[in-house]
Amino acid sequence: MAIGDWQWDETLFAGAAPYYRRGRLPYAPGLTRALGDVLALDGRGRLLDVGCGPGTLALDLAHLFADVVGVDPDPGMLSEAERLAREAGVSARTRWIRARAEELPAGLGIFDVVTFGQSFHWMDQERVAAHVLDLLRPGGAFVHVADLKRENRSGGGLPYPPVPHAAVDALVRRYLGPVRRAGRGTLPHGTPGGEAEVIGRVGFAGPQRLVVAGGQVLERSSDDVVAQVFSLSSSAPHLFGPRRAAFEADLRVLLAQASPNGRFSARQPGTEVRVWRKEPASPPS
Ligand SMILES: C[S@@+](CC[C@H](N)C(=O)[O-])C[C@H]1O[C@@H](n2cnc3c(N)ncnc32)[C@H](O)[C@@H]1O
Repeated sequence: MAIGDWQWDETLFAGAAPYYRRGRLPYAPGLTRALGDVLALDGRGRLLDVGCGPGTLALDLAHLFADVVGVDPDPGMLSEAERLAREAGVSARTRWIRARAEELPAGLGIFDVVTFGQSFHWMDQERVAAHVLDLLRPGGAFVHVADLKRENRSGGGLPYPPVPHAAVDALVRRYLGPVRRAGRGTLPHGTPGGEAEVIGRVGFAGPQRLVVAGGQVLERSSDDVVAQVFSLSSSAPHLFGPRRAAFEADLRVLLAQASPNGRFSARQPGTEVRVWRKEPASPPS
């Protein structure tokens, strides 16, 4: 998939996986229950989680399905997903497949729900959405999950200082240059939005939108913040090459200056869920 001059390549999240679960802020705590309710999950269906990363959504939802398939092109992410599935005791019900969404293997079968957790923007959206339509049973759900954007997450009245995001970003730019990096290329204008239009265009009905409230106070350590930085495609470990250790050392100095006891406060982001449906075929007239 291409965005302007940028071409997807397999280094996009190289080295990020071991940092992902620790570094990324979780989805809002009510998400699993909200999805269970809105999708009427009863433990019997099949879930396909595309761009599953370390199984973030797939593992949270595994107890609500009989069969879960996670797909991701990054081998490190899949190893993490496998490890976390073992820890959660759901290995028998989960399967992890290395593939890009654009090249899903044949024979996956038909699913009740297909989820995309902050992954659809990396894909050839039209092609993937059209294929998902074929993979869903009539009435099945295409589910897009993302952190709520444009939310005030300021840290007023919190016990520790906020994570100094602007200073961290400036340090990343000092090492990696002024333009956002992504894999072997750069993304000057970020990834595309407009997914709702594409998903509607291929024939899905919806979306039904719900917001799972965030706002809870989270405590973050310097190690968590370092992990967060390395979990991002724009500052993934591979991008620093031999200067990786130097970058981490500078990052830790910056964090120690911002919070001498190594503790930060953050607010849990809200989670936005949009659900589209594959309309049941009309009865023959
Ligand atoms: C931001 S992570 C999200 C991981 C997880 N879904 C979550 O909700 O935390 C994006 C994931 O999408 C995967 N990805 C990127 N391009 C992809 C593609 N073309 N097909 C499938 N997955 C892709 C990446 O490897 C990465 O694991």
